[in-house]
Amino acid sequence: MPKLEGKIIVVTGAGSGIGLGTAHILAQAGASVVLADRFGDKAERGAADIREKGGAAIAVEADVAIEDQVRAMIDTAVSEFGGLDALHNNAALVDPEVLAGDVSILDLDPALYERVLRVNLVGYALGAKHAVPHIIRRGGGAIINTGSVTGVSGEHVRAMYGSSKAGVIGLSRNIAVQFGKDGVRCVSISPGLIMTPALEKGIPKDEIQRLISHMLLPRAGQPEDIGNLSAFLISDAGSYITGVDIPVDGGLVAHWPTFADERAARRAAERSNDNITGGIA
Ligand SMILES: NC(=O)c1ccc[n+]([C@@H]2O[C@H](COP(=O)([O-])OP(=O)(O)OC[C@H]3O[C@@H](n4cnc5c(N)ncnc54)[C@H](O)[C@@H]3O)[C@@H](O)[C@H]2O)c1
Repeated sequence: MPKLEGKIIVVTGAGSGIGLGTAHILAQAGASVVLADRFGDKAERGAADIREKGGAAIAVEADVAIEDQVRAMIDTAVSEFGGLDALHNNAALVDPEVLAGDVSILDLDPALYERVLRVNLVGYALGAKHAVPHIIRRGGGAIINTGSVTGVSGEHVRAMYGSSKAGVIGLSRNIAVQFGKDGVRCVSISPGLIMTPALEKGIPKDEIQRLISHMLLPRAGQPEDIGNLSAFLISDAGSYITGVDIPVDGGLVAHWPTFADERAARRAAERSNDNITGGIA
């Protein structure tokens, strides 16, 4: 496990799913973690759980779309723990009712689109705006942004969400360029199919199995798969990595689109050969 002793890290959207799993991993690696979420009670439950396990954590209620709350979130990390080494921007509007309104461009609701961009993209920029000066004061550190495979490949639905995530990947590169010489690195992590409450609510089980058939690895991801990379990138072991997007997706975007069809056809052919051989023997 990467070493994060002495590091102070804020994770947004840490009341659930990937953010919560990441906060646990960062704390296990020795960091002092601020769990921020628009639902303070969820963040508090996560922080209390980390403290019970011997880690250092506090909770902050903050909506990443509201600049004053973002400033207060960062200020709390600095006043409670004494500085800031990294921010993992992770909160996003993935509520089922929001995704249900994000189907076809032909039904586009501009107000909903602006809300999605405000949380998923502007919220990340606001986080960086208020975190970077503190990170520079500590002598450098990292901004980690949760992107998505939908930011690098199109879907037949969710254009608002996908384009917000493409924006996150572009924003990350720009932050990396602006602050690299100050010792601030920025990397986006693009998860594939990660089993979180948002995903389990939003996708039926048979659809999950179908998606897994389109991956190279035989399982869906877990929040800790993202947390492990975040910990590595924030640690000194990741200190020469910046300005890139790293997929953590079990190989979801690494292959030709025909992969699953070809594999199924080959397996069917093998089964039919086995039957023929079985008949002859
Ligand atoms: N689960 C996946 O398969 C998957 C895949 C690709 C990308 N992602 C990304 O991972 C991140 C986490 O998703 P998840 O699956 O863990 O979802 P989740 O719903 O389990 O957790 C999201 C958390 O963010 C919080 N949140 C939402 N809006 C907020 C706001 N404005 N301010 C502060 N907190 C807010 C929610 O309260 C919730 O606790 C998101 O950025 C999502 O786009 C997830």
